[in-house]
Amino acid sequence: MTVLPHSLLLPPETQTERGAALHMLKSCTAFGTRGILVCGHSFRKSGRLDALLDNRPAAADVHTWIHPGGEPTLQQLDDLLAFAREHTPDWVAAVGGGSVIDIAKACAGLLHAPKSSAAYHDGASIPASSVPFMVAPTTAGTGSEATIVSVLTNTETGVKKSIRHPSFMAHHVILDADLLTGCPKEIVAASGMDALTQAIESYCSRGATWLTDTLALQAVALIHDSLPRVFAGDTEKQEVLLTGSYLAGVALSHARLGIVHGLAHPLGARYKAPHGLACAICLPHALAFNRDAIPGKYDRLSHIVEMDAAAYAHAMCARLGLQSPFAGQALEGKDAIVAETLASGSTKANPREVTPDDAALLLHQLFDSEPNP
Ligand SMILES: [Fe+2]
Repeated sequence: MTVLPHSLLLPPETQTERGAALHMLKSCTAFGTRGILVCGHSFRKSGRLDALLDNRPAAADVHTWIHPGGEPTLQQLDDLLAFAREHTPDWVAAVGGGSVIDIAKACAGLLHAPKSSAAYHDGASIPASSVPFMVAPTTAGTGSEATIVSVLTNTETGVKKSIRHPSFMAHHVILDADLLTGCPKEIVAASGMDALTQAIESYCSRGATWLTDTLALQAVALIHDSLPRVFAGDTEKQEVLLTGSYLAGVALSHARLGIVHGLAHPLGARYKAPHGLACAICLPHALAFNRDAIPGKYDRLSHIVEMDAAAYAHAMCARLGLQSPFAGQALEGKDAIVAETLASGSTKANPREVTPDDAALLLHQLFDSEPNP
């Protein structure tokens, strides 16, 4: 097996310490005094935004942009880019969940880019960015703090796709488990299942290497150990979950993913399903689909989670109270969903080849099943 991916891209600095995010703006001002801070409504409402700003260095000139909520869109990115370009920042920072991170990352990445964000979303070549990006995740899920990828939906076309460039990598990642406190249970569940899915799909991917397998298996073990307990309110396991999510992000960034993410993007965009929930509901079906293509890896996963891997994914959804947003709904636009699923880079990395009939069958399994898996 190949030991290393063709190209290894890691954040230059990752800090793991409770309370570290409170000092984030000091790190940011090492890159210049003017900055854009992106966060969500809940971070502001909790009073943590004020605490962060109160703790900024005297010279720091920080302008805050509040993400409006929901999955990240190109239109939100354009609003943020317009705001940021007014203030000519030296850096961009994000404190938030995956949506906040993806929007802020794309803002830093495209701040000085000459074309429209829609052009890059449509596939135009992205120039390197020189704008430093700093990030502190407030959910344990997407692993976006460790990747060069920003996943955005164009609400005008309904297309959900990723944009990426090596220069999108965060300069400084802060894994501060205190930031997970107060996260609503349904977000802990959905984002945690996104992390678990990413760890499993990276491990099973055609692009897997020894390094990504090592990281992904450790991520599966950490998430298995911590997700149900953090969901139940155990704050001591927050750091374990946050670490698992981060490792899954590093793994997926180098190994790619699989059919779950191939399906979750077109389904999430059409059915307004949160990404983590869509992944969670697809995961048991995908594991059953892939089982015979990767018997050794499937057994290893089952050994770590102490039961059959597909049954485990199914049971975890039930334990976390996740209900399918697809079950019982009319499956509309099947041919387009199948086409988008097959065109996805994630699907191409799936360990078992996915035919149009396979994708259609998986869709029927999702839409014809019971809401509570
Ligand atoms: Fe994901």
